[in-house]
Formats: sequence, C-alpha cells, structure tokens
Amino acid sequence: MATDIIIAPSVLAADFGELAAEIAAIDEAGADWIHLDVMDGHFVPNLTFGPPIIKIVRAVSTKIFDAHLMVSNPDRLLETYADAGADIITVHAEACPHLYRTVSRIRELGCKAGVALNPHTPPDCLAYVLDRIDLVLLMTVNPGFGGQSFISAMTDKIARVKEMIGKCDITIEVDGGITMDTAGVVVAAGATALVAGSAIFRGDGTAAYAKNIAAIRQAAASHSSQGD
Ligand code: DX5
Ligand code: ZN
Repeated sequence: MATDIIIAPSVLAADFGELAAEIAAIDEAGADWIHLDVMDGHFVPNLTFGPPIIKIVRAVSTKIFDAHLMVSNPDRLLETYADAGADIITVHAEACPHLYRTVSRIRELGCKAGVALNPHTPPDCLAYVLDRIDLVLLMTVNPGFGGQSFISAMTDKIARVKEMIGKCDITIEVDGGITMDTAGVVVAAGATALVAGSAIFRGDGTAAYAKNIAAIRQAAASHSSQGD
C-alpha cells in the first residue's frame, strides 16, 4: 500500500493581514499539517513571526502545527514555542552547536523534534541524533523566501537520508519549490511530508486551496504507489 503523504501548506505564502482566516481556510481545504516558517533576519535574510503570533492562530485549527525555526541559536525560546502550541519544532543543524541537547530538549517539552538541513549540508550530521528525532526536513531551496525553484540535486539527498534512517520512525519532509510538478519525484525518492507555500496559497480561499492541495496529493500518490 502507498504511504500516506502529509501535505503541509506553508503560511509564508498566505495573506499575513488575514492570517487566522487563511489558516482556517487551509485547514478546511484539507491540509494535514500547518507549516509555520519562523525567520529571524539573522540565520536567514528575512523576518516573519514568532511565538505570540503562533499562540493567536493556534485557536483556529486543531491540525498539527509544524514550526520550522530558521533562527540562530533557537535554544532559549524552545519552551516559548512549545507553550505557544507548536506540535513539531524543527531546528536547523547549521544553527545548533549542541544539536543533540537541543533535540532532546524539544522532546522533553512534549513536542516532536525535527532537524532541518540546508541544501549544502551533508546528512552525516544526523547520524548520532537519529534516536532523538521524529523528523528530518530537507530544504529543497535555500531558506528565507517562498516561490523559489526546486533544486533537483536534492532528490539524491532525500534517497540518501531515507537509506540512513532505515527502519527508524522518522518522517522525511521536504520544503521549497514543491508543486504538482515536483511532488512526484520527491515522494519517489522517499519524502512523505511535503511543504508547499506558493503552489497552495493561490486563487481565492478554501475552494482554490483545496484544489491545489488535491493536485499535489494526486501527483504525489501516483509516484508513491510505483515502488509498492
Ligand atoms: C522557505 C520556507 C518554505 C517556503 C516554501 O524558506 O521554509 O516553507 O514557504 O515556499 P514555496 O513552496 O513557495 O517554495
Ligand atoms: Zn519551511
């Protein structure tokens, strides 16, 4: 049987002026997770939002809140993100000198722990935290902005990480340039959670978002069943 694919719309592409309504719309449109891109203007050259906003929008959806922290030294605020309502907290390996401690702490806070890797970062840094993490987020663009093109060299990396994690219960999530045209190749390589911003938040509201999610889901499903 094909693995169920998780679709995680990134609210980076939403209308921030109507963020709560946009999250309600994407929830109703069939999102599995809500992907929240936190940027600090330091680790990445862009700024978004942090725990106070996450806490406010937590009230509009019961779906999994998937917080992607593109921030330097996230350790100090982990508890604040957990309190704000994040279910998954993903930190960048490049931003964490004590990654083992950081991911252990995320689990202690009752959240799922994720590690994100920039496109140039080799997956070897995951080897000694595999028993401490629930998710690997492979950036398929350089983080910081939506609407960029998928880096096709990342397909091999997905396959390599899939091999590395073996039978461990770890989700492989991909983020950046995921559309109905690229969903198939990443799923065929081993990704099971797909983040998509600009490919989903286009058109007007729930009906359009539902159509966009369905198109990505369908493209993913046709590939995920090939290897079964
Ligand atoms: C990029 C963010 C992504 C972004 C994806 O730094 O982590 O989540 O929103 O946007 P698209 O799907 O437009 O590439
Ligand atoms: Zn992201």
